[in-house]
Amino acid sequence: MSVAKLVLEGKEYDLPVFSGSEGETAIDIASLRAKSTAITFDPGYGNTGSCQSAVTFIDGEKGILRHRGYSIEELAVNARFTEVAHLLIYGELPTAGQLTQWRSDLADHDQVHQQLLQMISHFPPAAHPMGILSSIIAAMSTYYSDDEPVDVHIRRLVSQVAMIAAAAYRSSRGLPVVFPRRELGYAANFLRMMFGGPTSDYVVPKVLEDAMNMLLIVHADHEQNCSTSTVRMVGSSQANIYASMAAGVCALWGPLHGGANQAVLEMLDAIHADGGDYKKYMEMAKRKDSGFRLMGFGHRVYKNFDPRASLLKKACDDVLDHLGVLDPLLDIAKNLEEIALKDEFFIERKLYPNVDFYSGIIYRAMGFPVNMFTALFAIGRMPGWIAHWREQDAEGARIHRPRQIYTGPNLRAYPK
Ligand code: ACO
Repeated sequence: MSVAKLVLEGKEYDLPVFSGSEGETAIDIASLRAKSTAITFDPGYGNTGSCQSAVTFIDGEKGILRHRGYSIEELAVNARFTEVAHLLIYGELPTAGQLTQWRSDLADHDQVHQQLLQMISHFPPAAHPMGILSSIIAAMSTYYSDDEPVDVHIRRLVSQVAMIAAAAYRSSRGLPVVFPRRELGYAANFLRMMFGGPTSDYVVPKVLEDAMNMLLIVHADHEQNCSTSTVRMVGSSQANIYASMAAGVCALWGPLHGGANQAVLEMLDAIHADGGDYKKYMEMAKRKDSGFRLMGFGHRVYKNFDPRASLLKKACDDVLDHLGVLDPLLDIAKNLEEIALKDEFFIERKLYPNVDFYSGIIYRAMGFPVNMFTALFAIGRMPGWIAHWREQDAEGARIHRPRQIYTGPNLRAYPK
C-alpha cells in the first residue's frame, strides 16, 4: 500500500493512499486527528470523498457518467427507466425474468394510501409540489412499519413517488386523481396520471413517453451530489428510509441543485419578457456585484461538458419538432449557450450547460407547469437515492459527523 507523507509542525505523518476501480486516488486522513489533533478543512466538500461507492462513476474533466459501468449515453437511448432503477439499486440490469418480476413488484405497490391522497388534497392550491412530495414521503413512514422487508419500502418509494407528484399537480388544479395502470410502462403511466382523465382512453404519444423515459434516466443518479449526500447523511443516523428520501427531496429543491430547472425557465422567461436581449444578461452574469448567475450553467464536478445536457439538447429538438412547438425560449437558450461557449469568463471557469439547461424547455413543451419541474427531477432521482441508502445500510456505515474550525468568542463570564 502506498502512503502520502504530511509534515505538520515539524512532525511527519504517514497517511494511507488507495485507489478506486477507475484509478482515482484518495489520501485516507481518517486517522490524522487521533495522531495530531489537526483536522482537514474543505468547506463545501469540494475535494472530500465521503464514502466508497460502486453505484456511479463520473469523470468531470472528461465529461463521463456511468452507472455500474454502463455509459449514460447507452442507457439513455436503449433502456427503460425501470431497468435503470433495478441496475442502480440491485447492481445489475435485470434479466427478462427479473424485469417482469420487478415490474410486477412495483405495480403491486403503486397505490398511494387513501389517507395520504386525502392529505395531498388539503395542501393549499399554490403549494409547491416539492413541499408536498417531501411531506408525503415523510408521512409514509407513519403508515408503513419498519418491520416490513426493506425491499417492500423500496418498491413503494420507486412507484409511488410518481403518483404522489401527479396527485399534487392534479389536486392543485382541482382535478380528480388518476390511478396507475398495471399494463403501462413507468413513463407512460406517469404522463397519464398527470394529463389523462380518470376514466378516459387517453393514450400517451410514443414520442412523449420516450422523452419522459430518457428524462427520468438522465436524472437517475449522480454520485455524491447535495441531495444524495443528504440522503446518506440522514440515513447514517439510521433514520428510516422514508425520512431519508424526504430529506433528499428537500435538498434537491434549492435553485443551486435540482431547483435550477425551474430557475432556468424563469430566467429565460424574464429575458424574453425584457425584449430577448440575452447579451445583456450574459454581461450581468459576469459582473459579480449584479448577484445574477446564468442558471443552468456550471457544475461542481463537470469541467468539460455535462453528458446529460448533450443528450437533452437533442431530445429537446425532437420533442419540439414532433409537437410543432416554436418556443422563443429555446432560441434564447441556444443563443446563450453559443455565446457562453466562446466567452473568456465562461471558458476560464469551465462553465458549460448542465442537465437543467434544456430539461425545462422539454418539460414546458410537454405541458408541465414550471413549479413541477423539480418534482420531475425527484421522481427520476429516487432510484439513485435508494441505491446509495441501500449501499450504505449494507456496509453498516458510521454516523456522518464532520468537524469544524471554531471562530466564535473564547470563554467569557455570564453577565451578573
Ligand atoms: N453564472 C455565472 N458565473 C458562474 C456560474 C454561473 N452559472 N457558476 C459559477 N460561476 C462562477 C463563480 O462566480 C465563480 O467565479 P470566481 O472564480 O471568479 O469567483 C466560479 O464560476 C466558480 O463558481 P462556484 O460557485 O465556486 O462553483 P461551485 O462549484 O461552488 O458551484 C454551481 C456550482 C452551484 C452549479 C454553480 O455553477 C451555479 O450556481 N450554477 C447555476 C445554478 C445551476 O445551474 N445549478 C444546477 C447544477 S446541476 C444539478 O444540480 C442538477
